[in-house]
Amino acid sequence: MNIIVTGGAGFIGSNFVFHMLKAHPDYRIICLDKLTYAGNLSTLEPVMDNPNFRFVKADICDKEAVDKLFAEEKPDIVVNFAAESHVDRSIENPQVFLETNILGTSVLMDASRKYGVKRYHQVSTDEVYGDLPLDRPDMFFTESTPIHTSSPYSSSKAGADLLVLAYYRTYGLPVTISRCSNNYGPYHFPEKLIPLMIIRALHDESLPVYGDGLNVRDWLYVEDHCKAIDLIIHEGKIGEVYNVGGHNEMANIDIVKLILKELGKSEDLITYVTDRKGHDRRYAIDPTKIHNELGWLPETKFADGIVKTIKWYLDNEAWWQPIVSGEYQNYYEKMYGDK
Ligand code: NAD
Ligand code: DAU
Repeated sequence: MNIIVTGGAGFIGSNFVFHMLKAHPDYRIICLDKLTYAGNLSTLEPVMDNPNFRFVKADICDKEAVDKLFAEEKPDIVVNFAAESHVDRSIENPQVFLETNILGTSVLMDASRKYGVKRYHQVSTDEVYGDLPLDRPDMFFTESTPIHTSSPYSSSKAGADLLVLAYYRTYGLPVTISRCSNNYGPYHFPEKLIPLMIIRALHDESLPVYGDGLNVRDWLYVEDHCKAIDLIIHEGKIGEVYNVGGHNEMANIDIVKLILKELGKSEDLITYVTDRKGHDRRYAIDPTKIHNELGWLPETKFADGIVKTIKWYLDNEAWWQPIVSGEYQNYYEKMYGDK
């Protein structure tokens, strides 16, 4: 089985590459990644010499490069993680979100049609459903919740989802979509809440909490997300959307306080800052469908996962220090520039 994994040098994609090489030692995994600021090739260093792994630096919007790779590899499955993923950046500069997240998806699906891919899987997000009120804990996102986006990021992801479903209906492309809640775990880029707070707290820097800090996210350990995608690409029904989440809702401020407690740092570091524009109040996934149809359940409890994650950042300063300093962006040139 040949699987093209796009965005495999990012947070969830790299965890997925590791998961797949371990869970399916007979599969060939080809990672296609542009290595934007969010892609870090040193993350994939442990598998670079694995004969079942290949890394290709390319843009999913580049039709020629994508076509060449599909012609060479004849993939059975394509899993598209590649995206601009940070909401705050989308508020500053929406355009690149539309290019990568929507146009890039269409380029990958055109190649998937041309080369007869047996499954195109789109990694989407719970943010396509908009947000839920804080005072209605009985409300959850199901797969039939209407699309109702808030940010340029979520709008671009929703646009891609609609296009994926259109390729299924119009061309019969065998697609699936997963819409997952907030992930956390190793290799999470330190612009996102949890790694940002861990690293800033370690440096005794102020911790910028947006608004009143009461916004709620539904956190899932990244490995559980990877296992859900593995199940969907093998057993999921073509044309279907699967919500992925672990019923683990937490207010941002509680996460920040928990991190400070684990690190033995003072809550005086917390600084309330101007709220994110259009800030979604609460996300909460109903994962009944993937549980009933595919038997998926999250395995890592938040209490354990967050301790594991904090320990990972403490033990892996060599991974995040070059990111904080910006040096990691020279890594590809230094290691592979002349290869
Ligand atoms: P990330 O920002 O950590 O990684 C994105 C990766 O995509 C990087 O390696 C980057 O180099 C690559 N990339 C960006 N533009 C590209 C392009 N034009 N061509 C090729 N590669 C490109 O993102 P992440 O947090 O790992 O998220 C991965 C996917 O999962 C995204 O599609 C995101 O929308 C979705 N998602 C993320 C979360 C989360 O909590 N992080 C939750 C649900 C869904
Ligand atoms: O729900 C899934 C989504 O989760 C994914 O689709 C996105 O790709 C991913 O980035 C994530 O989006 P969020 O906006 O929820 O994640 P972020 O880590 O940016 O922020 C989490 C919450 O913390 C959010 O309510 C904003 C808040 N926040 C964030 C940062 C970076 C702060 O209070 N301070 C901060 O400095």
